[in-house]
Amino acid sequence: MRVLAFALVAAICGCSESPPATPPPAPFATAAITAEHIARWSRTCALCHANGEGGAPRIGDTAAWAPRLAQGEDVLLAHTLEGFNNMPPLGYCMDCEGDDFRALIRFMATEVPPS
Ligand code: HEC
Repeated sequence: MRVLAFALVAAICGCSESPPATPPPAPFATAAITAEHIARWSRTCALCHANGEGGAPRIGDTAAWAPRLAQGEDVLLAHTLEGFNNMPPLGYCMDCEGDDFRALIRFMATEVPPS
């Protein structure tokens, strides 16, 4: 009986299994990335994020982005809007709005570099 109860508890809470290694969720997973966003990225963010200028995390460099993504979307967006060390406020995209920045960050942090 005691064994059964333990098995039940373990089954309900999943305690007997080690937690699955889930990768962090893609940032701004609901932000749609359009061709226009990619064009804007090429004119603005790419100046630094294509080649790592000033220590910028490069597009598609998942190792460089991982600790940044771990900060959460709110911090990433705030650092983009307000600037962060060598990262200029708005990242030079003066006509981008919140959803545009969400899409641009998602594009950089989760896509492979354009060839
Ligand atoms: C003039 C160069 C430059 C431009 C242009 C630029 N960035 Fe950055 N960005 C940086 C640098 C440098 C860092 C790293 C700052 C640090 O960690 O000290 C950075 C970091 C970031 C981060 C991570 C912030 C964090 O909290 O770790 C995000 C997100 C980001 N940039 C988004 C953008 C977006 C979106 C654009 C285009 C709209 C853009 N950047 C344009 C230089 C730039």
